[in-house]
Amino acid sequence: MTEKWSPDSWRSKPFVQIPDYPDKEALKTVEARLASYPPLVFAGEARALKSQLAEVAAGEAFLLQGGDCAESFAEHGADNIRDFFRVFLQMSVVLTFAAAKPVVKVGRIAGQFAKPRSSDIEKKGDEALPSYRGDIINATEFNSQSRIPDPERQIMAYRQSAATLNLLRAFAQGGYANLEHVNEWMLGFVRNSPQSERYKQLAERISETMRFMKAVGISPENNPRLRETEFYTSHEALLLGYEEALTRVDSTSGDHYATSGHLVWIGDRTRQPDHAHVEFCRGIKNPIGLKCGPSTEPDGLIELIDILNPENEPGRLTLIARFGSDKVGEHLPQLIRAVEKEGKAVVWSCDPMHGNTITSNSGYKTRPFERVLKEVQQFFAIHQAEGTYPGGVHFEMTGKDVTECTGGARAVSDEDLADRYHTHCDPRLNASQSLELAFLIAELLEEGKHEKDQQVAV
Ligand code: PEP
Ligand code: CO
Repeated sequence: MTEKWSPDSWRSKPFVQIPDYPDKEALKTVEARLASYPPLVFAGEARALKSQLAEVAAGEAFLLQGGDCAESFAEHGADNIRDFFRVFLQMSVVLTFAAAKPVVKVGRIAGQFAKPRSSDIEKKGDEALPSYRGDIINATEFNSQSRIPDPERQIMAYRQSAATLNLLRAFAQGGYANLEHVNEWMLGFVRNSPQSERYKQLAERISETMRFMKAVGISPENNPRLRETEFYTSHEALLLGYEEALTRVDSTSGDHYATSGHLVWIGDRTRQPDHAHVEFCRGIKNPIGLKCGPSTEPDGLIELIDILNPENEPGRLTLIARFGSDKVGEHLPQLIRAVEKEGKAVVWSCDPMHGNTITSNSGYKTRPFERVLKEVQQFFAIHQAEGTYPGGVHFEMTGKDVTECTGGARAVSDEDLADRYHTHCDPRLNASQSLELAFLIAELLEEGKHEKDQQVAV
């Protein structure tokens, strides 16, 4: 029999990656304050995302998920948000055109603050300190005071998420995402990048289509779908006290929803079936992501699917494959087969970032663009071979011209990494690399489309 779930039932389970706060009273006070604050997102929106993800599961739409590895307090500004949103829109236009399907847009943003760490300790020379765990928990500065978990940071993260979401909603619905502006999204450094000519040609084709549609009476003025877009937020549900405080009962359905973001996911380090993170996520009705890594076994995956999606509801569960370009071929096919054999409805998404992190000769944590691309290519090829649908991609990316991942058409070299290495955690694709990857994925989607057409023709 399934044990009864409540927003705090995770507290009686073992957990990893949640820090021990020295001041328990202060933590309690903060959690009580958060519980009294307004929700960041509504249950109805989470349900809308779930139904769009159900279309992805059915092969009728494609998922684009991306954003920072870790959002930071210091870099919270309108320019950063706008630049991210702009490159995300560019990517989604490229993918929509190629797939000829709706692209479901989900940012790693407005809540992506808490980080799991491989090591509890960070060493510099002879000194060892507790690791940085994301701005919602402690600070990056390498001194013992900064690394003490501070509950007040949760309030700051909540307020930053609210402000970010406010701007994103304005961009998505207030005219910025109007398809008539598809040329203007080119502003900024991507204009001079190797992708700009390709993007300009695509933008011109879209503008031409818009002019034609206007001539026959379909325009952004009379059709909201052309002037607005739906954009959703997501983050890893890691800091469960924060998540619990923002979990609310939806008055229309009586169900519990995490209102910290539309979709939350369970990370590669916290998916033990009898642990707190799985316990928390099983009871909320949001769409859920589950990272699958080299240690995910077929039986273990089915066990987790049964816990997290017992009704086999399409759109509820997105499996985010993050194996690494050298391991995906060995691991992914057996997981796909297990899921197919058991008839589980899932979205398969590819995170080509987290299995491809290396330390460069210059000592920076980086990701070679060619490995990222290779994992995506293999992800598509494996699904093609298994007869299943490669439903989406999941990136760590920024709209800024950073130098954190090597390679790409503009060839960021190992020596370049020091120039603009700004990430607080993992290396992100810059705007030019992100758009380049979108074009390369567009080619894979177009190949898939042609193969499908040929199958129909036979
Ligand atoms: C992440 O998405 O930032 C992350 C830590 O991923 P994973 O849990 O897959 O390692
Ligand atoms: Co990361």
